[in-house]
Amino acid sequence: MQANPHQSPSAEPRIPLLVPEMPTADDLLPWLRRIDATRWYSNFGPLCRELEGALGDMFARHNGERPHLTTVSNATLGLELALTALDLEPGARVLVPALTFAATATAVVRAGLVPVVTDIDPDSWLLTPAIARQACEALHVDAVLTVATFGCPHDVGPWDEFTAATGKPVIIDAAGAFGNQWQVGTTTLVFSMHATKSFAAGEGGMVVSRDAALVARVRQLSNFGINLDPRATTPIGQVDLPGTNAKLSEYHAAIGLANLARWPATAAARRTLFDRYRALLEAGVGGFAPVWQRTPAGITRTLLCFRVPVVGAREAIEVACQAANIETRRWYLPLIHQHDGFTELPVAGSLPVAGAVATDLLGLPFHTRLDEGTLARIVGAVARAAGPAA
Ligand SMILES: Cc1ncc(COP(=O)(O)O)c(C=O)c1O
Repeated sequence: MQANPHQSPSAEPRIPLLVPEMPTADDLLPWLRRIDATRWYSNFGPLCRELEGALGDMFARHNGERPHLTTVSNATLGLELALTALDLEPGARVLVPALTFAATATAVVRAGLVPVVTDIDPDSWLLTPAIARQACEALHVDAVLTVATFGCPHDVGPWDEFTAATGKPVIIDAAGAFGNQWQVGTTTLVFSMHATKSFAAGEGGMVVSRDAALVARVRQLSNFGINLDPRATTPIGQVDLPGTNAKLSEYHAAIGLANLARWPATAAARRTLFDRYRALLEAGVGGFAPVWQRTPAGITRTLLCFRVPVVGAREAIEVACQAANIETRRWYLPLIHQHDGFTELPVAGSLPVAGAVATDLLGLPFHTRLDEGTLARIVGAVARAAGPAA
């Protein structure tokens, strides 16, 4: 037998942090045969448009109103193009939360804008309208790019009020919030379909807004900036604003369509797993009470993380998990302005909440292949480090 390079000889089998839920080759075959039949491989082909139609239907069912929507090759480019479509001055300042994935700030920089880092809410861990208002009073900000952190959706009503009062547009980086962030309001939503997300196409993303012109602009920018609209002043086939190539291929659309058929089952399995996991951790571990992000009930998670509010306990759990061959991750850490490439970013205030979260946030394995035995192994390792329940 060949040695598994990820497994030390004496250890139990490795428990990975995430295991993508992708369709099998058999699930994909009917969709691939459709590509064979049309010989259309990219450039907004029939599968891409079918996926966009199906996703639009889901938003319409949840909102009673159908937003405009365009697919992109990934959320990072979706964010960059959504920011570009806002038509801000070069160097305009975009508020971002300190606790987020690097792509949030990367997209701002690549759009020729400046991320301004701000704090997060102590309960929801989100950059909220109240925090944005405070930041806008303290320093100059032109737009907000908030994040549906760890899949937690935003109530868009207060963001609509923020935009109405300040004139500043709001984009929500909803990369990991598919199935949770249905409200659109006056914001622009950007989702990821990366393999690790709960709704996955391998790579992919989409931009959603009620603003038809903004979504058309993103679509044009995703196709090099080439105008395809006969009503526009720029002739068809010419570039009016240089874009990039951020189109979703037909193969990725095929994966998305195959996965969308399984979405209700996937979402239900993830919700059940999260509830069971949380109950087991709370019942099986003493020494600390996990502090959970405050979210609306029943959201679909892509990952599991919590705060460990006892000094040194997070590190002890990490060591115990490593010894038991269980992967852990300090999700979204370091904070965005602590990455070497972002240390020069302007920061709004002293960020006490993000700073505190950074000291004790911990992620454990989360995927629907975790059975009861595997969950018991994980909870056992945490309890060995932090103490069993009394
Ligand atoms: C908050 C956030 N924004 C953006 C991204 C990037 O998404 P993509 O991989 O589709 O570019 C991620 C990916 O995990 C994310 O978590």
